[in-house]
Amino acid sequence: MAKQNIYDNDAFFAEFKNNRGKELNFNDVIEAPIITAMLPELTGRKVLDIGCGMGQHAVQYAKLGAASVLGTDISEKMLAYAAEHNTAENITYRKLAFEELEEIADRFDVITSSLAFDYAQDFEGLMKKINALLADDGVLVFSMSHPMATAWDGVYDRFTRTETGERLYANIRNYGVEGVRHVRWVVDDYEVYHRRISTLINEITAGGFNIEECRESELPTEIIREHSDLFGGVIHRPDFIFFRCSKKRR
Ligand SMILES: C[S@@+](CC[C@H](N)C(=O)[O-])C[C@H]1O[C@@H](n2cnc3c(N)ncnc32)[C@H](O)[C@@H]1O
Repeated sequence: MAKQNIYDNDAFFAEFKNNRGKELNFNDVIEAPIITAMLPELTGRKVLDIGCGMGQHAVQYAKLGAASVLGTDISEKMLAYAAEHNTAENITYRKLAFEELEEIADRFDVITSSLAFDYAQDFEGLMKKINALLADDGVLVFSMSHPMATAWDGVYDRFTRTETGERLYANIRNYGVEGVRHVRWVVDDYEVYHRRISTLINEITAGGFNIEECRESELPTEIIREHSDLFGGVIHRPDFIFFRCSKKRR
């Protein structure tokens, strides 16, 4: 199965680290508050964070009282950063692609993932692997790029703008064409997988989950207005989609 490890590319890693470290970034301003609000109580829980990257969420979950946090990721550079900057006694990092999750011989009360599943070629298969690692009364909470964002095929700009650069509307082209996108973004051949919303829902369900809650990225109007260069697109189309799921009873 295809596995891209773009975060170990020097230029891509440097760009991601730079953006993630800025005071205003999409992860901290949009993603983190929404996924945090969707989490169950973490006190005393065993947490698995898939695609943990540089470990910001792992530390957050440890601070929220998790008994232990296992962070897994495919990228050595991301994990090296995590091990240097985002540690705690009860956090373990492990290099493991999510295609190989069956190698984990453990079960978790809470499984999370932030913006990593865009890279999954086999999303339904991934859901099944996660299902097998989750305790029967466990909770899966994850975010990924929104289908209206992954539809972008790099041919036209993401937005149609006025002459002065203001975003008029989002260009959602080829939403109905699912599959891998090869676009130029920092590197010449950046790959993500595009699925329609109905496909995500059906594959989560086929993976053995009930969807308890779904959210899309949103921001207070003041923040959008104040930082319209960065966040002005949010009112036209969401960047991220979020799901909270429980296991289906057999
Ligand atoms: C956008 S970053 C998000 C990192 C982190 N979750 C955060 O919120 O800051 C996506 C992460 O997914 C990881 N990733 C991509 N493909 C993966 C795979 N096949 N298996 C495991 N991790 C993967 C990348 O290495 C990267 O760390």
